[in-house]
Amino acid sequence: MRITRLTLTALALLFAITALTPALSALEKQPTATYHARRAALGEKLQGGIAILFAAEESELDFASYRQDPDFYYLTGWNEPGAALMILGPAKAADSPMGTTEAQPYREILFLPNRNLRVERYTGAKMDAATPNVTTLSGVDEVMALSDLPALLNKLIAANPALAARLATEPDSKLADTLLDWTAITFSQHHPPHTRDLSKLVAELRLIKDPGEIALLKKASYASILGQREMFKTVHPDVTELAVAGAMTKVWMDNGCERPAYFPIVGSGPNSTTLHYSENSRTMRDGELVVVDAACEYSMYASDITRTVPVNGHFTDRQREIYNIVYNAQKAAIESFVSGKSKLLDWSHTDPDALDTVAYNYINTHGKGPNGEPLGKYWMHGIGHMMGIDVHDVYTQITYPAVLKPGMVFTIEPGVYIPEENIGVRLECDFLVGEDGKLIDLDADLPHTAEEIEAAMKAK
Ligand code: GLY
Ligand code: MN
Ligand code: MN
Repeated sequence: MRITRLTLTALALLFAITALTPALSALEKQPTATYHARRAALGEKLQGGIAILFAAEESELDFASYRQDPDFYYLTGWNEPGAALMILGPAKAADSPMGTTEAQPYREILFLPNRNLRVERYTGAKMDAATPNVTTLSGVDEVMALSDLPALLNKLIAANPALAARLATEPDSKLADTLLDWTAITFSQHHPPHTRDLSKLVAELRLIKDPGEIALLKKASYASILGQREMFKTVHPDVTELAVAGAMTKVWMDNGCERPAYFPIVGSGPNSTTLHYSENSRTMRDGELVVVDAACEYSMYASDITRTVPVNGHFTDRQREIYNIVYNAQKAAIESFVSGKSKLLDWSHTDPDALDTVAYNYINTHGKGPNGEPLGKYWMHGIGHMMGIDVHDVYTQITYPAVLKPGMVFTIEPGVYIPEENIGVRLECDFLVGEDGKLIDLDADLPHTAEEIEAAMKAK
């Protein structure tokens, strides 16, 4: 290429622009109007109160990539550390918390920390309240410096003391606790204001996925399916568990995923019976099974897939028998599904509407354990969990057993783990309840039956 003076000028200009412009996140975002609508929906739940939540912080010397707080990301799509979000819920004149006739309009403010150019040399450029067009870039109505947050909160409460009883914050947020302590001191009170659990309010929204979220979840599934297919090719006697995890990780990253959705579980032989085994240090041996519970995260949305495969490509009779019991237990749960009636995660195994009960009853009435006993006791975890921005999505914030409805995304993952025989089998697929109430298997393109798995391994 001939380097002309014009080319050099253009390159210099490009370099100057790149150096001055903060890097925008590489994550695939939803339209800013979507995040705005979520904040407005949260505002409606506040009954005229205030919500305050904080972004995840960034450590200077970290061994993992920055991951935004899930609720913060859901509400903003903002992927920078150290920010705060305040939402003031609208109130009509009549039910204004002030007890006056004045109405309170909806208000939303993103608070950004001041840029620290020294830290940015390590972790990359950020935006702050002074960044040009930051309101447009963030999509939030107002953007202020983080240092203005305590003063604004004080001002709002001073103008309307009833607001102090209508605060919602995230539990276990040290920053929220500090802010509330400070606010109490400001008003000469001994105790900080009592707050509502903001994470529960946001969970009610996060539980039903919108079409944009479903598209991202499908991309996570797609890359995870490719990773599992790579696993079929990589698993072989004398290969290490870690080599399998590594081969899958490469495929995820080649396909736009930013990280695993959880630490990959590649458990061979005896390790197949440890539910969340993650040391991945063993060398797989001929004749064993390997449980591969490994999937990735695409633009903050998770996938969670498990396939159990024979290390040498062929199930023994006993391995096949247990595999088929797990497969048929999952099938029974899927076939029993009725939107608006079926429930997820019921440890009691007594509720006939719970998918757990259906799968458990199948497992407990088919096959036998090593001493001739029913197999139910060899399945010791729940049938599944919600999935979304977190692999175990809004797990502690919602009430299980959860009634399953359109727009919900969750796993169905029965298993049987028999340490006495070094046989562990888990089959985990991710499902969306479609608008018509039918289940959509997000990893339908991946082998499910023992025979499909053997055929896929033979093709390698
Ligand atoms: N991968 C963790 C789980 O299946 O819940
Ligand atoms: Mn799972
Ligand atoms: Mn899993």
